[in-house]
Amino acid sequence: MSNNVFFGRSLTVIEDLSIDERRYFFNKVAQLKKAIAEGDEKTLDSFRINDPDFGIYEVFLEDSTRTKESFRNAAKFHHAKVSELMCSSSSINKGESYADTFNMLSGYSNRIFIVRSKVEGLCRYLDEESRAYTERNHLPVKPAFINAGDGKHEHPTQELLDEFTFLEDNGMDFSSLHVALVGDLYHGRTVHSKADGLKVFDKVKVDLIAPPELAMPDSYVEKMNENGFEVRSFSSIEDYLDSGDIATMWYFTRPQLERMGERILQKQDELRKSITFRREFMGRLKEGTRFYHPLPRHKEHPTIPTFLDNTPLNGWERQAINGMYCRIVLLGLIAGRIGDDYSGPVRGVDRTITDEEYIVQVDLSKKKAPAKVKNYSEGVHPIDNGIVIDHICRGDRPGQIRSHMRLISSVLGIDDGRGGEWISRGSDGQYKGIIFRPGEYRLERKDLKRLAALAPDCTLNIIKDGEVKEKYRTHMPPRIYNFDDLCCTNEACVSHPSQGEGVPSMFIRTADGHYACAYCGRFHSYKEIWTHRS
Ligand code: NCD
Repeated sequence: MSNNVFFGRSLTVIEDLSIDERRYFFNKVAQLKKAIAEGDEKTLDSFRINDPDFGIYEVFLEDSTRTKESFRNAAKFHHAKVSELMCSSSSINKGESYADTFNMLSGYSNRIFIVRSKVEGLCRYLDEESRAYTERNHLPVKPAFINAGDGKHEHPTQELLDEFTFLEDNGMDFSSLHVALVGDLYHGRTVHSKADGLKVFDKVKVDLIAPPELAMPDSYVEKMNENGFEVRSFSSIEDYLDSGDIATMWYFTRPQLERMGERILQKQDELRKSITFRREFMGRLKEGTRFYHPLPRHKEHPTIPTFLDNTPLNGWERQAINGMYCRIVLLGLIAGRIGDDYSGPVRGVDRTITDEEYIVQVDLSKKKAPAKVKNYSEGVHPIDNGIVIDHICRGDRPGQIRSHMRLISSVLGIDDGRGGEWISRGSDGQYKGIIFRPGEYRLERKDLKRLAALAPDCTLNIIKDGEVKEKYRTHMPPRIYNFDDLCCTNEACVSHPSQGEGVPSMFIRTADGHYACAYCGRFHSYKEIWTHRS
């Protein structure tokens, strides 16, 4: 077990496993499924944890049938101890925090927690919290957390079983995949996980079929584009069929009425119509087409109607059965029972942040003459002592720049002094903002970090006796955290103050210059992450 890279790992989002680790996983599931079909007890035993003291704990704060029951039956396969927290009668209802609840349960020698909740990013946070708890209490092992669906965010184990089923149907071929995602792409976490999940295929084409009210959120479309997928959008099944170029794999989802606001609910019949398969479409499908669905289907309004159950289109029943095989393998890997022979790269995302320098001091000694303050002209009287922050929001509209300068000023705590804000226009026609503050300002390293997070690509000039004595250039920090006035805009995120969990916000820079919340993954611009709003 010593070299088993899967041992004790949490699965909070699909990217917690590297592409190669996922491919290894799928091959293991195929092996297990074959052994089950053949009654090959020797192979099955090689997968089994076989330890009645190995504690697996299910905590489902939202309803579930398949995910919960397949995990419970998978735990039974392993001859492990399986428990369930009775959420409706637990102390969470007395106002206990999630961290306290789960920490206490890990003290009772539970090794794996399976958690479903409407709080997004909960597992990621619990995984961090439990590290400190385990150390404080000298527990022999830190428990692992499996995300069984967190709000609208992700559902990584569903992603594994969906992809395993696609692979079964294309002969375990990782070279390419063309799939249509149909239904409630806005609320459905199973389709959100596909934005990173489908990276296991070398070439991916995704067709998104949903009316605008239920469309895939931009950040997931962006992620798909970034991951090199070809993405097309259609507002109804009819439009899609008319396009002529259609997939043979169709992944349907249910309109998640429980998550919709009143305004959308009023239009539910119309919305449902555009994403429900109809008899008249039958002749228009391609040879070999298969339908999938994470389930449940609505008994009165299924997006895949029941007259299709007994046809070759039915891939969704086998998909649900595969759920248990996938979960057996996942538990076996986390317990370290299998996985010793894996030797590829570990996890897809490197969460360690490089120590890159994003505040650069400009060397003024190389200049021939000392930089004179009167360079900051445009009608503002040059200042003798104070600070000038220049190049703010270059390229934005004047109104946007003004309101962002107000935000910078209040977050930096330089609201009360003399001075002003100015907008100038460069020879390239672009606008930029300048903040002038005459007086005594002592900016510590933490203030400079705050400035970089608030105004990347600006310059800070510290002026003494009419000369620029120090000058700094800021760049986008790789990570923004450790400031009291940060706040994720997603109210369902575990780090949002309305959740009352006291989780400090953290944001990680994305490849395209956004800041993703470290917990719920929501994309923000650097202007949107502050409790003071501009
Ligand atoms: C899905 C879920 O809960 O995210 N169901 C599931 O896990 N099989 C989809 C849904 O509820 O519609």
